[in-house]
Amino acid sequence: MDNSIIKGFSKYNKQQRIDALIKRYGFQEDMVSWLATFENSDAVIQKIIDDLSENPVCSFPFPFSIAPNFVVKGKNLFFPLVSEESSVVAALSNTAGFWAKRGGFHAEVLGTEKKGQVHFIWNGNPGYLQSLFPEIRSKLLAESTFLTAKMEERGGGITSIELKFLPHILPNYYQLDAGFETCDAMGANFINSCLEQFGKSLQEYFLTSEKVSAGQRECEIIMAILSNYTPESRVRAWVECPFADLLEGKTAEECELFVRKFEQAIRISQTDVSRAVTHNKGIFNGIDALAVATGNDFRAIEACGHAFAARNGHYSGLTDVLIQEGKFRLSIELALAVGVVGGVTAVHPLAKLAMQILDHPTAKELMMYMAVAGLASNFGAVKALVSVGIQQGHMKMHLSNILNQLNIPEDKRAEIQQYFQDKTVSFSAVEEYWKSFGLRGSGFE
Ligand code: MEV
Repeated sequence: MDNSIIKGFSKYNKQQRIDALIKRYGFQEDMVSWLATFENSDAVIQKIIDDLSENPVCSFPFPFSIAPNFVVKGKNLFFPLVSEESSVVAALSNTAGFWAKRGGFHAEVLGTEKKGQVHFIWNGNPGYLQSLFPEIRSKLLAESTFLTAKMEERGGGITSIELKFLPHILPNYYQLDAGFETCDAMGANFINSCLEQFGKSLQEYFLTSEKVSAGQRECEIIMAILSNYTPESRVRAWVECPFADLLEGKTAEECELFVRKFEQAIRISQTDVSRAVTHNKGIFNGIDALAVATGNDFRAIEACGHAFAARNGHYSGLTDVLIQEGKFRLSIELALAVGVVGGVTAVHPLAKLAMQILDHPTAKELMMYMAVAGLASNFGAVKALVSVGIQQGHMKMHLSNILNQLNIPEDKRAEIQQYFQDKTVSFSAVEEYWKSFGLRGSGFE
């Protein structure tokens, strides 16, 4: 293998990148046409996809799925979902249909403020700096109006700027801690531009103000960046019904047992970190699938969600259950920041379609839909876990993956699926069974 360091790879065109890949790994020449099968036949669309990132050699398709029957605040929606994990969409669809018959999902937005920080070092008296801060804040706001004017027209802008002295982290370390309202945009560029401008204005203040003494003019900006932790951008969603309605065709005792085990599962997730992480992973199965479909930054959403899960000093499950007066209520509260304009949402053709499917939601509506997707995913998972277990559903989906891996012809699949309905699915078991097909009629069966 040629292991030489490549210079200027980013300047290569797609063909050159593919050639380099083939050369480095010794792939066959037919790799070129194979990679091309993942390309869109519409060159304009392919260019949009390629431009989302750097150095593409082809696209990497995931299924774009629909989960119907999501009734959210009385509105009946299809949820567009992108997930590579089998049974995520099936579980969401089942749960949506289940709750559609029981009043649907309820949701409310509790806040939308986003955050950013300028981290800096200044070698002076913190009390004195605090006394200068009203004047500094006015300068920061005045000198960023060229950035904020448009956002203010839309009802957003800078909502607060605070000065924090944090010497326990670093000697002479301060933060400008700023709040932003970015309306329907995720607002990352807006926030980061404002923060970088704050940094410049702050340095200029120290350099030029006659209130700062000659030895204290130096202000070192460490960095200026938004925070993906947005505890003031929060959403809540819940479902509720009399618990006798939870299990169709089951006795009152069976329902009670189910409710009790469901509640126990939630309590465990609220205290045991090993369970909490898996519990929340299941929640993000739903949230991420909707985030990816709508072109939102699922890493930011996850990071924020997990930090929020640890807000009380220990990491905990994000859902809560309340059993009261014969009613079952499952709720989720999340810190979450999303955008519905700009970014990938505005350019990716399927993200645009996803927004259309969701009836062009506002950012607040999309926050609620994401919380609903997380709640639905959690309900589906915990319901299965405390009753039949998750392997039954997982293995059904897993079987289709195995059938694909083994290239089983379409006309043989139904019979194999039927055979495995009451058996444990594994790659080797399916392979064995498939081999037995070849023996049929040979006298060896
Ligand atoms: C699997 O992707 C997600 C679950 O593990 C979630 C959970 O355990 O709650 C089923």
